[in-house]
Amino acid sequence: MTTQHPFEAMFSGIIGQEYDMLRLICPLAAEMSQLVGQRAGEYCAQNPAASSVLELGGGTGITTLALLSANERLKITSVDNAETMQSQARQSLQQWQKEGRLAFVLDDILQTLEHTEDNSVDIVASAYTLHNFEHGYREQVIAQVHRVLKPDGLFVNGDRYGLDDVNVHTHLIQQEVQGYFSVLTDMKRLDLLEHWIVHLFSDESENHVMRESVALAQLQTHGFKSIQLDHRNQVNARVTAFKSL
Ligand SMILES: C[S@@+](CC[C@H](N)C(=O)[O-])C[C@H]1O[C@@H](n2cnc3c(N)ncnc32)[C@H](O)[C@@H]1O
Repeated sequence: MTTQHPFEAMFSGIIGQEYDMLRLICPLAAEMSQLVGQRAGEYCAQNPAASSVLELGGGTGITTLALLSANERLKITSVDNAETMQSQARQSLQQWQKEGRLAFVLDDILQTLEHTEDNSVDIVASAYTLHNFEHGYREQVIAQVHRVLKPDGLFVNGDRYGLDDVNVHTHLIQQEVQGYFSVLTDMKRLDLLEHWIVHLFSDESENHVMRESVALAQLQTHGFKSIQLDHRNQVNARVTAFKSL
């Protein structure tokens, strides 16, 4: 491991190249994408005019695929700033891109949001992206998500929501680290183990960690209603919120 990649750029490096390995060390991550897609599908069933989705941090396309499968009416704009990650999604999801249901934007999420019109998007969806942000950046992203959503629009995010009980949270993180060691040493992938541990330090750092009560209060402050956290499994959970009419 060299210091040439700051932790913000980890998805451009080895983690990006071998991101699918995450399914082995964290099966919950793939499950969370399904839950995000499922919530978007339910929203479509209740809102027959809903069609536009802005996906924040599409990565290799796991969540994008779940959204595409949720309802054939949905048209997705998937934003990511890591070419290593997005090129994998472009490859595996080209069929939907050709059909005009999927567009990729290789750019910063906040910049993309800032260039999106007010009240123009039915659903903003994401998985395992917002926890990577520093607090100040996340605050701006949440404000922009609220601005771009149509009235009653849905925000759904499956992510690492830190437990308010720090002792329980720490215990879960310790178990997570043991899991990384167990799987990746068996596979003799010490290089990847090193990168994931380094990344975990960033996730858990004071300026990044997305604590449940703080995250939910932040949504309320920015004007969201019917805020709900469900499907908690260890440090993973799904959050849904709606823009007020
Ligand atoms: C952990 S991956 C999640 C991918 C996918 N949603 C999933 O659940 O597997 C997070 C993605 O967010 C992207 N990302 C993080 N910060 C970003 C930013 N500020 N602007 C654009 N993309 C960003 C990373 O490049 C990465 O592909």
